[in-house]
Amino acid sequence: MTAQKFVSIQEAINNAKKQKKVAVRGWAYRERGSNAMKFIVLRDSSNIIQCVLEKKNFEKQWNEIDKIKIESSIEIFGDIKEDKRAPTGYEIAVDKINIIQIAEDFPINKDLNEELLGDRRHLWLRSRKMTAILKIRSTVFNAIHEYFRENKFYEYQSPIFQSVQAEGGSSLFNVDYFGRKGVFLAQTWQLYAEPAIFALEKIYTIAPCFRAEESKTSRHLTELWMNEMEVAWANFEDIQNYGEGLLKNIVKRVLEENKPELEILERDVRKLEPTLKKKFPRITYDDALKLLKAKFKIDIPWGKDLRTIEEDKLSELYDTPVIVTRYPKSVKAFYMKEPDDSNSKKPVVNGCDFIAPEHYGEIIGGSERESDIKKIEKRLKEEGEDIKQYSFYLDTRRYGSVPHGGFGMGVERVISWICGLDTIKDAIPFPRTMSRTTP
Ligand code: 4AD
Ligand code: MG
Repeated sequence: MTAQKFVSIQEAINNAKKQKKVAVRGWAYRERGSNAMKFIVLRDSSNIIQCVLEKKNFEKQWNEIDKIKIESSIEIFGDIKEDKRAPTGYEIAVDKINIIQIAEDFPINKDLNEELLGDRRHLWLRSRKMTAILKIRSTVFNAIHEYFRENKFYEYQSPIFQSVQAEGGSSLFNVDYFGRKGVFLAQTWQLYAEPAIFALEKIYTIAPCFRAEESKTSRHLTELWMNEMEVAWANFEDIQNYGEGLLKNIVKRVLEENKPELEILERDVRKLEPTLKKKFPRITYDDALKLLKAKFKIDIPWGKDLRTIEEDKLSELYDTPVIVTRYPKSVKAFYMKEPDDSNSKKPVVNGCDFIAPEHYGEIIGGSERESDIKKIEKRLKEEGEDIKQYSFYLDTRRYGSVPHGGFGMGVERVISWICGLDTIKDAIPFPRTMSRTTP
């Protein structure tokens, strides 16, 4: 009798020794045929498997079977057995097939350039590469939730329509909000998160953020998912410890759960292992300048921000993320705390960037928050901001202000690094960049 309960291809393979009769369903990943036989490599979300149909068993249906093309949807019933020559080491001898839909000619092939693949992104998602990345992405999201929940954080949500900026006015997306001016898409949750630590103390989120940066690089999206956290009673070191713990948990989970996917992506997992085992080096901005000069003869005048090329050079010195701290005040956001030992000639802030190995750039940006309301107001005025708009935020420093801090992690940057991708665009299903908002 034919087994009727559908199992995933992976389950069918795993149980092949015990359960020979199987029912599986999915899409034709490859197909070839002759007069007497048809070979279909069937694909579902779990794996692929070769299926063999002999004409003599399907005389009436053969006409239809002959029409099966790539991505046609089918149900297959038959006997599974080991076959070393088959792509995943198993084969199904088919005794019944239900054709759900014969697909039209699938418009994806090896010759498509990046632009055309982008236009057909909705179909390209089915590729083994994208499927592997999307599975890893799912693990990453879960690992983030797991880490913060285990550390007793509350999940909290901030608005996407906002009326203040935290990361510089130039990267704000303006919204036409019933004709009203001064409404933007969220760059970060931060100014709406700080008020909530007075209620919940430890909070986190994973949410879309928007950046109107005119950068066409392999690490910039205009719409990205940011994991952010904010903690009351935390000092600068606590914030760095949380960031390190988080990244370790993400890498650990992906290594545990996604070995097959990392293999499909041909990722050298040995490059990820040090992140689990070693403590991340923590260096100051001043140390970074010295290292750049000594190791690479790159001379950065004090006070200039580190650019991509300098971050990349620094990353070559380490096999784990490196945490750079105490940046010049002038290159960082208005809310970052100036420590007591900051000197007036070269003022710095307790801000930190986590730079990923292998040229994947800044994956986390965080800081201890400035508690001195006068300093915050001064900075906002210097940036030409209307203080009245920030009065809700400044109330956090008026009513029971406490030491606190937080960070934001670019989820796609982390996925890009873990998967070893050439571009961040592949770390998200439908990338939004300067040049693309479709499909
Ligand atoms: O360093 P950023 O700008 O920090 C903040 O927004 C803080 N308010 C976060 C906080 O303290 N709550 O952004 C955080 C991270 C960066 O380190 C980077 O990984 C990622 O977000 N990111 C981007 N990723 C992709 N494309 C872009 N355009 C990105 N801009 C930032
Ligand atoms: Mg940053």
